[in-house]
Amino acid sequence: MKNLSSSEALSRFTGALSVAINAGNRYARFHCDRVSLLACEIGAACGLSFDDLTMLHISATLHDIGQIAISHRILCKPERLDEDEWVEMTTHPARSQHMVCSTGLTNVAQIGTIIRHHHEYFNGAGYPDGLAGETIPLLSRILSIADSYDAMATPCAYRRPRTHDEIMDVMRGEENIKFDPSVFRMFTYIIEQDACELRCGYEAGALV
Ligand SMILES: [Fe+2]
Repeated sequence: MKNLSSSEALSRFTGALSVAINAGNRYARFHCDRVSLLACEIGAACGLSFDDLTMLHISATLHDIGQIAISHRILCKPERLDEDEWVEMTTHPARSQHMVCSTGLTNVAQIGTIIRHHHEYFNGAGYPDGLAGETIPLLSRILSIADSYDAMATPCAYRRPRTHDEIMDVMRGEENIKFDPSVFRMFTYIIEQDACELRCGYEAGALV
């Protein structure tokens, strides 16, 4: 078998893990694919290089893979999680990082770091490390916004999707708390354009 380049191997690994996510949690697989699309649009508007966009795509595709290790009962619980369940849920970014980094491929340390911090809050109130402001990697700040929009725009086992206007009301209230305001401005610019295909796809239910 010919030797694969590191980026080619990482690309194949990403595809294989996506299949694994699909087997374990169909919602998570398509959630990750949609988040990748939206995150890369925001990243392009922020002027990211091709290499950074590639890293963002891989990070977004794999950001929730650690949920494979979380019990299905917790992932699909319609009620609020109790304290122990919440603690278990908050382990998934570090689990995702560990799984990705276990490949030992080039760039996985950086990808693992982006994934680890996708639930940090701009004000420091997020997890797992309570990072704040620009100490949170830029690609994680972009991923956080795309992740939040998609989670509200699509149905899951226990709630209906929110409309675009409902989502933007919630997210504007979280600017400076959860989201980096400068990245949020770029996201708003993208998602509120009349011709934004992604928003139209969400509104038509075509991306679910
Ligand atoms: Fe997550």
